[in-house]
Parts: sequence; C-alpha cells; structure tokens
Amino acid sequence: MKAVRFSSFGHPLKVAEVVEEPDAALESGQARLEVLASPINPSDLLTLSGQYGSLPKLPAVPGNEGVGRVVEVKDTTAARVGDIVFLPLGTGTWRSHLVVPAEGLVPVPPGTDLKQAAMMFINPPTADIMLREFVTLQPGDWVLQNAANSGVGRYLISLAKLAGYKTLNVVRREELAAELTALGADVVLTDTDDLKERVRAATGGAKVRLAIDAVGGDSTRRLGDALATGGTVVNYGVMSGKGPKLSAEASIFKDITLRGFWLVLWMKRTPREKQAETFGRLAKLVAQGTLRTAVEGTFSLDEAREALARAMEGGRSGKVLFTPNGPV
Ligand SMILES: NC(=O)c1ccc[n+]([C@@H]2O[C@H](COP(=O)([O-])OP(=O)(O)OC[C@H]3O[C@@H](n4cnc5c(N)ncnc54)[C@H](OP(=O)(O)O)[C@@H]3O)[C@@H](O)[C@H]2O)c1
Repeated sequence: MKAVRFSSFGHPLKVAEVVEEPDAALESGQARLEVLASPINPSDLLTLSGQYGSLPKLPAVPGNEGVGRVVEVKDTTAARVGDIVFLPLGTGTWRSHLVVPAEGLVPVPPGTDLKQAAMMFINPPTADIMLREFVTLQPGDWVLQNAANSGVGRYLISLAKLAGYKTLNVVRREELAAELTALGADVVLTDTDDLKERVRAATGGAKVRLAIDAVGGDSTRRLGDALATGGTVVNYGVMSGKGPKLSAEASIFKDITLRGFWLVLWMKRTPREKQAETFGRLAKLVAQGTLRTAVEGTFSLDEAREALARAMEGGRSGKVLFTPNGPV
C-alpha cells in the first residue's frame, strides 16, 4: 500500500512524503478499497501546515474525501467486491488502498463521473447549506460571492440557478467571465474597491441580502459594503490568509452581520436523516452532471510533490486530484 504521509506540520512540500506500508489484514466486517480518485482541497493544505480547525495525531495520511472500488471483504455482505463507493469522510484518502468498515459504505450512483463523485462530500454541501441556512431567499433574489471560480463557487452558481436565485460572482481574473456565465452566473465582477457601485449598477439597485466569502480581509469588507441594510456575510474560507472584516459603515450604519460556516460543525449538530437527505440530493445532481466543477489535472501518488505544488498555485483552471490506481 502506498500513501502520502506527514509526520510534522509545515510547508506541504516539505512535510509530505510518499511511503510504502504493508497491507493490513482485514478484520471481520471490513472492506479493502482501492482508491480511485481523491481531491486536494484547501483544507488539506491547511491541515498539512497545521493551520486547520481540527488537526490529526501525527504521523497521518492527508485527504478527506474521494471514491474507491471494493477489492476485498471479510465476513460481511454489506459491500461486494467491485462496488464503487464514496470513501468515508476524513479517513486519510491520499493512499492507494484503504481499510474501512463495510457497513455504512455509500455506493456511487451508476454512471457518475468518478472525478466529480470524488469531490461530492465537502464542497457541494458547503455551497448548498450556505445558500439555504443563513438568509431566507426567494426566487429572483440576488446572492453575492467571491472566489466564484472555486469549486464551492461553481457549485453555488449551479445550485442558485436551480433555486431561481441570481448570482453576482466576484473573481480575481477578468478572463473567467465567459466560463462562469456559461455555467449559469448572472453577473461576473472583478474584486476592486468600486464593487458596491458595480453591484448596484448590475442589479438596478436591488437589495442584496446574502454574501458568501471564501477570501477574507478586504475582500470580505467589499462584500459587506455591497449588501443592503440588514444583510449577512457568511465567511467560510480565508484564501487571502487574512481574517474577515467589515467596515464600520457596514457593521454600524447598515447592521450587516458577519457569520461563519464550517461543514464539520454543521455535521456535528445536524441530525443524520437531514445529512443523508442533503448528501443524497446532491449526489443525484452530481450523477446527472447538473453539479460539476472544473478539473485542472490528475496525479499519481508518486507525483505528490507536483500535485501539491499545483494545488497551491493561484490561477488554476480547476481542482487537482490524486488518481492513485491510474486514470479514471
Ligand atoms: N468552511 C467550510 O466548511 C468549507 C468547506 C469547503 C471549502 N471551504 C473553503 O472554501 C474555499 C474554496 O475551496 P475550494 O475547494 O472551492 O477552492 P479551489 O477550487 O481550490 O479554488 C480556490 C479559489 O481561491 C482563490 N484564491 C486563491 N488564492 C487567493 C488569494 N490570495 N486571494 C483571493 N482568492 C484566492 C482562487 O482564485 P484564482 O483561481 O484566481 O487563483 C480560487 O477561486 C477554501 O478557502 C476552502 O478552505 C470551506
């Protein structure tokens, strides 16, 4: 079994190494999965560098989601050899094989693009929950977001479209406008200090009550300034490396609220039935191709350094994934 492993926190390129480990013998009720695809998410990079909200005991294998094929089972009928399943969340997925309980494995709907399925469990629910649980929106309402070309941003554009909401999408690179418009974005804007005026012009002065922020720092401030009185900014990432902030004008004179969202906390406090409904509904949309995100490239585990370097670069065309057992 091959895996990416880290034994100390630090720069991902310095602490991640590729190791060979002996295959563990299966215990009763367990399944061995061959990992087919697993993405590198920003949270994985933050975990490697010791900056994430929860950190593993070291040494550890990074990676939180993906898809795999059952290649062996012991004393169980809960999974069958050949089944394609979602990897259980948070199991250290950047490896060639993974041993997990067979009970509770969730099959990938037949016909789903496996790279898209591998990215199903973190970013799509993040976009979906932020659209549903902070501000009650009606069809025709506007939603403002930055990092709109990110994985989460692209899912949010598609989910908003399905719900009949209109999206104002802030990006760092003007050339993304055509691509995001083709995905369903209503308006694409670059992240500059006149954002408030350009939002007003694009919406004809409509009240924008929800902004979704993956960047932090001044970018959060610009979103807050562009909202209508009483609006809410939901901060869920800090791609700029800076904490979110509001202007005094927004917080005092316009009563703008800054909230945070972390999927880990949502999963801790949300009943299992509601989680299953959310993941099931999103898995169907991914299987249909209604929800999808762009892929920059796929890498073997032996190419871990190149994959990590690419995932840390700005200006990517999409997500970076490991495909540890060959192309999918
Ligand atoms: N809170 C939660 O539960 C939760 C769950 C999922 C994801 N997240 C967070 O959501 C964010 C997006 O994740 P993802 O997987 O969708 O990302 P992704 O697909 O890897 O895309 C990264 C995005 O960040 C932008 N970016 C990179 N560096 C930046 C900088 N210095 N300033 C401004 N923008 C920058 C990129 O813009 P360019 O293309 O122009 O480089 C791109 O839009 C991350 O912060 C992640 O940690 C949070």
